Amino acid sequence: MFNSKIIGLGKYLPENIVTNADLEKIMETSDAWIQERTGIKERRHIVKGDGNSTSVMGVKAAKIAIERAGLTPNDIDFILFATLSPDYYFPGSGVLVQESLAIPDCPAMDIRMQCSGFVYALATADQFIKTGMYKNVLVIGSEYHSGGLDMTTRGRNISVIFGDGAGAAVLTRTENSNEGILCSHLHSEGKYAEELSLIGPNTGRWVPEILSANNPDDISYYPYMNGQFVFKNAVVRFSEVIHKGLVTAGWKKEDIGMLIPHQANLRIAQFVQKKFGLSDDQVYNNIERYGNTTAASIPIALTEAWEEGKVVQGTKVVLAAFGSGFTWGSVMIQW
Ligand SMILES: CC(C)(COP(=O)(O)OP(=O)(O)OC[C@H]1O[C@@H](n2cnc3c(N)ncnc32)[C@H](O)[C@@H]1OP(=O)(O)O)[C@@H](O)C(=O)NCCC(=O)NCCS
Repeated sequence: MFNSKIIGLGKYLPENIVTNADLEKIMETSDAWIQERTGIKERRHIVKGDGNSTSVMGVKAAKIAIERAGLTPNDIDFILFATLSPDYYFPGSGVLVQESLAIPDCPAMDIRMQCSGFVYALATADQFIKTGMYKNVLVIGSEYHSGGLDMTTRGRNISVIFGDGAGAAVLTRTENSNEGILCSHLHSEGKYAEELSLIGPNTGRWVPEILSANNPDDISYYPYMNGQFVFKNAVVRFSEVIHKGLVTAGWKKEDIGMLIPHQANLRIAQFVQKKFGLSDDQVYNNIERYGNTTAASIPIALTEAWEEGKVVQGTKVVLAAFGSGFTWGSVMIQW
């Protein structure tokens, strides 16, 4: 059995910055409301026609991660692509990355686990590496939310929160059982599937049916979120799954070198920080600049923490996520 470790990280954010003041011009909201409830000051939005898409952003992040790993695309044995906003309904975005990187017939699999997507993808990559089936695995989290949000007052509780972007990691095998991913814990609770969801179109109601109904009240093609319910569940599940990881890894909370929570909402991250009694240096947040980028938020934040020298050899890194499904999970990494 091998361990897996991250040897390359990359990120890509679209250049177009959308501030809270920009949103004030198109919907009834305020910078004060958004900052107080979420901590967000600005986010990035793709500009239609700028050539970006979910897979294109993923490829940009992946190229940086592969180069930093000292590898070439042909060294990649397996691609895992986490997103809730794939380029197409089908096929998944992973195969588009494989084609763009020109990796001949490399397997590519999409992970549809929303905000927990990157954590699920890392855990999946780890299993394939542990068994020896694959050596180098490329894991991408990428989201293009802005094109599908209701940017009117009607959709403001969601549209002010989400942003576009991508992050990527390259994992490889190591024979040192004391380094890399030490453990992962994954969970889901489908009874709350519709509390944070986008349910239309679906296979019981295809696009032509929705369009022909011509019902302006049918906004099932926009994301729906029961915000307070999500918040209450998130703080409980984040805490539980971080605790489980600490127990399995044999770490104490003071051992944590860097906790990177999924960037859902600054208030959720602050709640978790307080609960574990962590200092500001032990927790990485960048939601104020990018909003919630769902499956991309952890790899973007991990990349930035690494670029800033806050994750170095020996750092005990905790990744934790909660999101639509509900799904949640944690990964403990001895860097
Ligand atoms: C979304 C969230 C910020 C809303 O905050 P909240 O305190 O729960 O606010 P509510 O939904 O109760 O709404 C309070 C008021 O603000 C209004 N409001 C909602 N969005 C607004 C916005 N963008 N700007 C201004 N006002 C807004 C509501 O209409 C409501 O007005 P009312 O009292 O007149 O009815 C909060 O619930 C939250 O952070 N939830 C978790 C979200 C999350 O993390 N999601 C991702 C999980 S992966």
